[in-house]
Amino acid sequence: LSLVVLISGGGSNLRALLAEAEHADFPARVLAVGSDRDADGLVHAEEFRIPSFTVPLSSFPTREDWGKELLSQIQQWRPDVVVLSGFMRLLPGEVVRALSPGLLNTHPALLPEFPGAHAVADAIAAGVSETGASVILVDEGVDTGPVIAQERVPVLPGDSEETLHDRVKTVERRLLSDVIRGIAAGRIRLEEYPT
Ligand code: GRF
Repeated sequence: LSLVVLISGGGSNLRALLAEAEHADFPARVLAVGSDRDADGLVHAEEFRIPSFTVPLSSFPTREDWGKELLSQIQQWRPDVVVLSGFMRLLPGEVVRALSPGLLNTHPALLPEFPGAHAVADAIAAGVSETGASVILVDEGVDTGPVIAQERVPVLPGDSEETLHDRVKTVERRLLSDVIRGIAAGRIRLEEYPT
């Protein structure tokens, strides 16, 4: 299974996936890493000798123009699946439609709880004792796509956003790995999910 992974930040989840993909028994390869900015996480692509590309939103007059360029860069690699892993931009509908159903996102909450860019902070602010991690198919909404895999993660007393996010990311990484294995094995069929 061939992947392109998009990031915007530190890319710790990307790094975990790159490390796992180095093992011959992992049924997927990361062909390239893309970002909307000069993300710190691109260093992981360099380290693992994976090509990368950046398509800065600020370089384009409209989000649609940005989306067209991003889509063009992605499609050059002809991936089976595109994984958004800490990618913090909304993709234009044209991009989602072009890539669906091979377009996944990992989210650090038990969707539909706490969608959006501040899920972990929102969970802490809400005072919940439990949150989670989710892998979803991306649709044209914000974190509204069908859930492919999710798992509860406890919130511990004294958790900061960082300690909770680290605990959630550990689960996100395992869920993403399991989903990728499931797709590669034909156990998970993305085209069967309603979008
Ligand atoms: C992950 O929790 C991802 O789900 C969320 O942002 C975080 C990215 O972390 N959108 P990293 O960049 O992989 O370290």
